[in-house]
Amino acid sequence: MKNEAALFVGAVEALRVAGCVFAEEEARLLIAAAGSERELDGLVARRAAGEPLEPLLGWVEFCGRRIAIDPGVFVPRRRTELLAERTVAEAERVRAERASRLRPGTDGRTTGAAGVVVLELCCGAGAVAAVVEAAGGFEVVAADVDPAAVANARTNLADAASVFEGDLYDALPERLRGRLDVIAANAPYVPTQAIATMPPEARDHEKRVALDGGTDGLDVQRRVIAEAPRWLTASGTLLIESSERQAPSTAALMTASGFDAEIVRDEERDATVVIGRIR
Ligand SMILES: C[S@@+](CC[C@H](N)C(=O)[O-])C[C@H]1O[C@@H](n2cnc3c(N)ncnc32)[C@H](O)[C@@H]1O
Repeated sequence: MKNEAALFVGAVEALRVAGCVFAEEEARLLIAAAGSERELDGLVARRAAGEPLEPLLGWVEFCGRRIAIDPGVFVPRRRTELLAERTVAEAERVRAERASRLRPGTDGRTTGAAGVVVLELCCGAGAVAAVVEAAGGFEVVAADVDPAAVANARTNLADAASVFEGDLYDALPERLRGRLDVIAANAPYVPTQAIATMPPEARDHEKRVALDGGTDGLDVQRRVIAEAPRWLTASGTLLIESSERQAPSTAALMTASGFDAEIVRDEERDATVVIGRIR
């Protein structure tokens, strides 16, 4: 194997020629990921040909954690950190409210608090669920229709059995009906026509099922929202990632399904989450 400096210079040069804006940083990451010079050559060639970086590395950083990414599984975006943060905040709010309603027993301890249950629907690699799990003390479940995503999410969550495969809520066991305190979903929301205008890394390398939200981008969200009240507790919360442009439509769908909807926006991450609390 050449010395590391020579490998670095060669990788940076190849990535720059291919138009990678962060060639030096990517070269460093690919060198760390490769087990041999031959493997590095292969990774650099695939990156230079336009493959997304994260599946080549096998991980992505999300909310300060390393999330494993399998080939072909949607790469969690930085903007989705807002969804994860707000989901944790909602779960913590439910836990605090539930604890405050409990009276201490004769021994001064409070007992009998039902655990807070959080679902990540359309979980992909399970990044949001993994952040909620890391926050500690919640029952976390996740589901996706894509078997590759389900297998990937199982590697990112401590309890592999809590990841279910199937079409939206059809994936879930009956015992969860009416028991979910919080549902978080970054369901596909790109309008079909707009997929052609996405960056090639997404358009050419991510599955259609992970991107395509139908004519107005809201087809999957519509179904997530319409069925949510049957799975949530009477005071449950639904959080859905949307775009700034689509968020009012997402909020209107929630309102029509019996939620009070709030749009939360983070300009710095270009992130939008619509939060619906059952009225
Ligand atoms: C935009 S990706 C988001 C993945 C993950 N939530 C994230 O933010 O990284 C959308 C995900 O929804 C899943 N999906 C699409 N249609 C679905 C359906 N009908 N039921 C369950 N999952 C679905 C896709 O397989 C994909 O993993």
